[in-house]
Amino acid sequence: MYRSHTCGALNASHINTEVTLAGWVQKSRDKGFMIWVDLRDRYGITQLMFDASRTDQAVFEKAKSLGREFVIQVKGTVIERESKNPNIPTGDIEILVTELTILNASVTPPFTIEDNTDGGEDIRMKYRYLDIRRNPVKNNLLFRHKVAQEVRNYLSNQGFCEVETPYLIKSTPEGARDFVVPSRMNAGQFYALPQSPQTFKQLLMVGGMDKYFQIVKCFRDEDLRADRQPEFTQIDCEMAFVEQEDILDMFEGLTRHLLLEVHGLEVEKFPRITFDYAMKTYGNDKPDIRFGMKFGELNAVAQHKDFAVFNSAELVVGIAVPGAATYTRKEIDALIDWVKRPQVGASGMVYVKCEANGVYKSSVDKFYDQADLAQWAAATGAQEGDLILVLSGPANKTRAQLSALRMELGNRMGLRKPDEFAPLWVVDFPLLEWDEDSERFHAMHHPFTSPKPEDMHLLDTDPGKVRANAYDMVLNGNEIGGGSIRIHDKETQALMFKHLGFTEEEAKNQFGFLMDAFQYGAPPHGGLAFGLDRLVSILGGQETIRDFIAFPKNNSGRDVMIDAPSALDPAQLTELSIALNVLEK
Ligand code: AMO
Repeated sequence: MYRSHTCGALNASHINTEVTLAGWVQKSRDKGFMIWVDLRDRYGITQLMFDASRTDQAVFEKAKSLGREFVIQVKGTVIERESKNPNIPTGDIEILVTELTILNASVTPPFTIEDNTDGGEDIRMKYRYLDIRRNPVKNNLLFRHKVAQEVRNYLSNQGFCEVETPYLIKSTPEGARDFVVPSRMNAGQFYALPQSPQTFKQLLMVGGMDKYFQIVKCFRDEDLRADRQPEFTQIDCEMAFVEQEDILDMFEGLTRHLLLEVHGLEVEKFPRITFDYAMKTYGNDKPDIRFGMKFGELNAVAQHKDFAVFNSAELVVGIAVPGAATYTRKEIDALIDWVKRPQVGASGMVYVKCEANGVYKSSVDKFYDQADLAQWAAATGAQEGDLILVLSGPANKTRAQLSALRMELGNRMGLRKPDEFAPLWVVDFPLLEWDEDSERFHAMHHPFTSPKPEDMHLLDTDPGKVRANAYDMVLNGNEIGGGSIRIHDKETQALMFKHLGFTEEEAKNQFGFLMDAFQYGAPPHGGLAFGLDRLVSILGGQETIRDFIAFPKNNSGRDVMIDAPSALDPAQLTELSIALNVLEK
């Protein structure tokens, strides 16, 4: 038996007990006649004491040789500590050591294994196994486990069955590029790794599974950001014989269950807003509704004067920043510079200070009188003491810019509180989205999403106007899940592929299996997938999913610990029928 207790288990009730502990040396203090060692494992830290007058001489000498991160086993007696540490559960006691075994020595770690380490991101990723010994990373992994377990509990109790679907599949378009795997046995042919198990879960519905879920890895070759990894995990779900309402209810229930189990929070029914409303009100289809600053459109009250910039703009839109009328000229100029940065791209910004007694002071006083500015205040909901910030230009771009400003101000003003949770549904997404580069429509969610029956007639005449039975769950300004009611008949699916620019031949080649299946009694079905990494990190009060993944990739898609991706041996390439000269070109 390596240990009788963990390093987090012992307290005053164990005094005089003989124990065996094992773990890592966090640090040691050698005072000549006394040596103290902090012994750490996953469960906590226990102080060990070697006393020259009481500890065997050989054991005492061995204790002197201990370095950071040595793995040791000790036997000893639990005794009361002289100077207690009220900050840790084991702080009342220490172990007077009688036996010490060095199980494994350690070279000096490249960074300190402390909550506030001196190691930068790169070095911590290279030695991720050491990083995982640190509380912040370890606790994130434990937290992730708890969330995943609660998901399994909830869905299993609701009658969902977890089914594994294959990883070596054929490309399924979810908007990203595929990672591909060459097939040795089928020279010149490739599998694709799933961007999601979308088609398989639909086939499980045709197979009569009725309620499916899977906590599953997905792979997408896309540019990486704080909330994106090339391989990530979905809580993937599908249900048969359901309408949109059934799905929203079920997964709102799941999220509510998680908030209760993980944070003890009871959340009201989630607000539901349409995509159009979200874009008009927050400039964003994943709004953070923990704070206000809703958009006020100002075309009607700002386009009748001689201010050419506004008169020529498709959209004039503003927000009221609470309490910011006191901002100095310098502070406002800094905000203007911020929106003019290339990442945001505004050409300028107009402001109005709403001062005491209904007096407005603006950067466009030349063009607008007090009555005009009062209307701006009404449209943006500005109160006395607020600062109205106004952008103008092409509608979509301007909304995106103002949304970026709103989020930035939300961050700066501490309005995005990590321990506050504001989930909502965004519904009625457009079915199709125009892509400027390829000059054609793409499926906004994916090609298997059902149009709203009442909008079907617009497919030929005004495809951009067709709304889908598609929905996203948004939490604190992040899309944590999305799904749709699916098309379940061959004709509609064929029509959809046609509108997405597939020839009949292409549609058959890529998705013949699905359309065939639809001929054998496919039930009406729908579902959604949560991004587990995102869900966990937001529930954990953070937004960087890397911190909640045991072995993540860096921003160039590399695993710097194992050094992947890497070149292959020529013999391996030959076996896979991949010609070297093609790679060298
Ligand atoms: P979607 O593409 O919206 O839907 O993905 C579902 C959720 O997965 C998360 N997500 C990601 N998380 C981390 N890194 C990524 N690269 C990444 N990409 C997506 C997001 C997102 O909301 N098959 C459909 C679901 C369905 O229709 O049922 C799908 O995959 O949180």
